[in-house]
Amino acid sequence: MTRNRDPQMNFTNGLFQKVEISKMLNEMAGIAQYLWEKGWAEGSAGNFSINVTGMFSDTERDSLSSNPVIPLSGKYPDLARALFLISGTGTRMREMADNPMGYVCFVYVGESGSDYHLIAGNQDEGSVKPTSELATHLGIQQLLIQQKSTAKVVLHAHVTELIALTQLPAFKTEEAINSLFWSMHPETMLFVPEGIGFIPYTIPGTETIARATLQELGRHKAIIWEKHGCIAVGANLAEAFDILDILAKSAKIYFLCKSTGIDPEGLSAAQTETLRTYYSGLSRGN
Ligand code: 13P
Ligand code: ZN
Repeated sequence: MTRNRDPQMNFTNGLFQKVEISKMLNEMAGIAQYLWEKGWAEGSAGNFSINVTGMFSDTERDSLSSNPVIPLSGKYPDLARALFLISGTGTRMREMADNPMGYVCFVYVGESGSDYHLIAGNQDEGSVKPTSELATHLGIQQLLIQQKSTAKVVLHAHVTELIALTQLPAFKTEEAINSLFWSMHPETMLFVPEGIGFIPYTIPGTETIARATLQELGRHKAIIWEKHGCIAVGANLAEAFDILDILAKSAKIYFLCKSTGIDPEGLSAAQTETLRTYYSGLSRGN
């Protein structure tokens, strides 16, 4: 394929001017503020990626290949020529809330799926680099494409209430943690009927955590990294945030009850199953 290297035709400056992208920047600012207020984004914690490929024509995206090329540690053939808006590594969500464009970058995956072109949000190229969890984000984004999912967003946050649960020996399995969610807050069954995937502690930012996450995300739309945080996918940032929020609420109810010195009753296994049947009927339009 011929690449457009004519600077006159370079689309880099136009990326952020797209109406869809500026709307997205507003949404990012709002979610970044929520993450900060919830206490789920201490320091530079948390990151996200958004597949924005469909918002640009092939020609527009191809013109981005004049930007610096950076090799990827893995190969993502199904992401060839896909374009992502990704939070910068080291980004403070509280700062992103005020200036989203200053803390994001575009990642345009090359044709081989093994490198990408970087376009920084503040136009000072090189100053904003994608999240250190890039391998996990691209792996999940590729999986979403393979699954023909409507989800375009991957959101990672340090959800305090969920991390705290993984510090308790009783909740170190997928089964135990999901039973707790469903029994503490019935609507968890509506939002996350398949439950959350559980990944035992692994060093953040590695290929290992990316691979383990991918295995779980085949069956779940949210996963928890033991003693670290969570990942959720959704059609947009708000949808991914909602999943984390409802799970956190469930965990919070548990901790609040425990803080009284009394074990919460929870729903019984039979009540949970009745709820599952009821909600699955609703989602089929019965
Ligand atoms: P980044 O600042 O590189 O996105 O890292 C934050 C984080 O939460 C790592 O897991
Ligand atoms: Zn993290």
